[in-house]
Amino acid sequence: MEISVNLREKLTHPIFSIIAQVAGEENVPCYVIGGFVRDLFLRRPSKDIDVVAVGSGIKLAEAVAARLGKQVKVHVFKNFGTAQLKYKDLEVEFVGARRESYRQDSRKPIVEDGTLEDDQLRRDFTVNALAISLHPDSYGELLDPFDGLEDMRNMLLRTPLDPDITFSDDPLRMMRAVRFACQLEFDIDNRAFEAMATNKERLRIVSGERIADELQKMMATRRPSVGFRLLESSGLLELILPELVALKGVETKEGIGHKDNFAHTLLVLDNVCDKSDNVWLRWAALLHDVGKPASKRFDNKTGWTFHNHNFLGEKMVPSLFRRLKLPLNESMKYVQKMVGLHMRPIVLSEEIVTDSAVRRLLFDAGDDIDDLMLLCEADITSKNQERVKRYLGNFQLVRTKLRELEEKDRIRNMQPPIKGEEIMALFDLPPCAQVGHLKMAIKDAILDGVIPNEREAAWNFMLKKAASMGLKPVDSAELPR
Ligand code: CTP
Repeated sequence: MEISVNLREKLTHPIFSIIAQVAGEENVPCYVIGGFVRDLFLRRPSKDIDVVAVGSGIKLAEAVAARLGKQVKVHVFKNFGTAQLKYKDLEVEFVGARRESYRQDSRKPIVEDGTLEDDQLRRDFTVNALAISLHPDSYGELLDPFDGLEDMRNMLLRTPLDPDITFSDDPLRMMRAVRFACQLEFDIDNRAFEAMATNKERLRIVSGERIADELQKMMATRRPSVGFRLLESSGLLELILPELVALKGVETKEGIGHKDNFAHTLLVLDNVCDKSDNVWLRWAALLHDVGKPASKRFDNKTGWTFHNHNFLGEKMVPSLFRRLKLPLNESMKYVQKMVGLHMRPIVLSEEIVTDSAVRRLLFDAGDDIDDLMLLCEADITSKNQERVKRYLGNFQLVRTKLRELEEKDRIRNMQPPIKGEEIMALFDLPPCAQVGHLKMAIKDAILDGVIPNEREAAWNFMLKKAASMGLKPVDSAELPR
């Protein structure tokens, strides 16, 4: 049943009344449509406004810009028939209503001028096809030919057309479905979900950058695990990140099974998301066990082992990032480091927590130590409450020791207290293994607590060590201490 809804009160930004004035004068029917309207209902603030004109979007944009004043420039994209202008904090895009028809022998649509309804029909989801009239004759009227409002109430992502057509036309929409499911916390309609599974191979024609963009948006939501579960069950994950799918399943030998590492990974991701908005820490959680399938062994005595899966995972990160078109920069190095180090606090907390081991952990993790501790605590997903208590208790001990040692020894960003050049000058050495050996010995002595992290102590230690290596200082009186 068509219900008449007027939303004029919701169009609070002055841009709308300006567009309305111009639309009235030019007599062009036009509508605000898409994400802005959806977000109006969801009370999500949005700065991107899409306007569809039944006629020329470019002409309307130019007339609106002229009304706004000289300082407002229009950027015209002739090939796409669109025009964009920036006004205050808003970005407004104008386009003419379009109709697309598909030929049997080609996927490329023929784009022609169309009605508003033609335009709404070719959009991804009914909740993204809602339009509000901006023409003075019907200002504020909602145009909802595909029951988008009902879907909004039911929090449902449904396609205006047969989903096989909507997704096959633009396969990126399958990723958008998953991303919106996370971002808006909506469900994907059953028919649409089935169509995702049927059309998954079409994703191959979508550029890596656009897929990465959707993954990043997903990662920034409250529950990205929902998206990864949907990607897995629709078969899309196999195409994007088969390494994660390989974590799925439980193998049993001699009555001993291991945990399902895919389910575990998603739990760890949830735990991290509860504590941190850092998307790169979230990526580290997603990839922390990615080295497990390749390192899995069965031992008659100890059962299943995944020795060195952290190092294997660390090695895999750059190629995964390259393939996923994620940045190959400091963020990638951070993820790599987290994956590589994620077993350290756990191993540490299984044994007696020595100062030496904690100093070494602090040295290797540097400023990322707090994130690493967070990841490691998130990694404890055991159902055995006794185990969980023991681990978390020990982590607390590690954290306390980290604080104490950090205050005392300033290990976090430790610089070598004696430079290589000083060692070379003191013993008249060229760059050689002996210099490296001495530097390493000083570092180890500090980390092992043999000497404090101070220059004087390091200098004396170095002299003794050098003597034991048969090195004699040249004229030491002239050298700085
Ligand atoms: N759209 C579509 N298919 C796509 C991309 C976009 O049908 N692959 C339509 C939808 O109607 C969408 C509108 O174009 O609402 C604007 O697209 P965009 O700005 O990319 O997305 P939003 O829905 O506004 O959401 P977000 O800004 O969060 O991406």
